[in-house]
Amino acid sequence: MTASSRPVRWGILATGKIAHSFARDLRLVPGTELVAVGSRREESARRFAAEYDVPHAHGSYADLVADPDVEVVYVASPHALHLEHARLAFEAGKHVVCEKPLTLSRAEGEEMVRLAHEHDRFLMEAMWTATHPVVRRLVAEVHAGRFGTPHQLHAELGFRVDVPPQDRMLNPDLGGGALLDMGVYPLTFAHLLLGEATELRGVATLSPAGIDLDVAITGRYPGGALATMGASMTSWSSRTASLATDLGRLVVEDFHHPATARFVPYDEDGPGEPVVLSGAEPVIGRGYGNEAAEAARCIREGLRESPLVPHHQTLTLLGQLDDLRAQIGVSYPGA
Ligand SMILES: NC(=O)c1ccc[n+]([C@@H]2O[C@H](COP(=O)([O-])OP(=O)(O)OC[C@H]3O[C@@H](n4cnc5c(N)ncnc54)[C@H](OP(=O)(O)O)[C@@H]3O)[C@@H](O)[C@H]2O)c1
Repeated sequence: MTASSRPVRWGILATGKIAHSFARDLRLVPGTELVAVGSRREESARRFAAEYDVPHAHGSYADLVADPDVEVVYVASPHALHLEHARLAFEAGKHVVCEKPLTLSRAEGEEMVRLAHEHDRFLMEAMWTATHPVVRRLVAEVHAGRFGTPHQLHAELGFRVDVPPQDRMLNPDLGGGALLDMGVYPLTFAHLLLGEATELRGVATLSPAGIDLDVAITGRYPGGALATMGASMTSWSSRTASLATDLGRLVVEDFHHPATARFVPYDEDGPGEPVVLSGAEPVIGRGYGNEAAEAARCIREGLRESPLVPHHQTLTLLGQLDDLRAQIGVSYPGA
């Protein structure tokens, strides 16, 4: 077996909800192996390891990153801790795939990128929307002008969050709030399809602890396209994204987990026959598998960032979140 055909060996840092989803999908990705898991509690690491057949269970993150079998660490802790945990991994010589949002602020994100460069390791935000085959197809087709000129984009993501105030979703100390947890997806979708926003405006309803429960965003994009975007922790949003152009309307039902998208052409006589669009490659699992496959490909090719989720794109989005947080009056301790 050559070095480039060896499986990429993953270690998962933290055993919360997304760590489970990622582990399930990782099993479906050829050329990868889940070799270790680390948790603050040994019992939790053991349980996780038993569930996914993971050879090494570590009772601390320090032990996980020190594991010589681990090549890339998937950071699945709350956002406020991503920088600290990615730093641990880089200092131990590991590559990093870090959950979204990469960090609480652009300044923290720049520090994480700096650490990746300093240690000459691969770093990718786990922005799986950008690696999703259906979204990739849409981006390519929209950029090629296949659906006409984009004018109005709409994208929203939300679900009712019933958790205690100390949960990471509501707790300011852990980076709680709808914008960072959910709003980053519609913003990323708009960025991928329309380019970098030239103007963003946000309004929000805040919780008693000062984090945003609901946020509504409007944006202006290159070429004159406008976008309306939303994120909610209080209500069940449609999760739909759409893009209206001079030739018709592109619709993505559940743009968070799309199976397909469709373009409905329009003229004076009304709607024409819809065109159904799927990805060029299959969706692996829930779509987290495609992000793992992309990271593994990059690591085996010796890349230090993914062309699908480049550092500058992640930092641009983090800057947009900073700007919107300032507008809606949400700040986090130390960020
Ligand atoms: N890509 C996606 O679709 C997606 C979906 C959901 C979440 N996420 C992202 O993934 C990250 C984790 O989200 P999650 O929903 O998995 O959260 P979660 O269920 O609350 O799990 C977070 C885990 O982080 C670890 N942790 C370390 N220090 C902690 C602390 N002080 N308080 C709480 N937990 C701590 C814990 O694992 P141990 O006890 O094992 O140490 C905990 O189980 C977030 O950044 C989120 O934005 C991404």
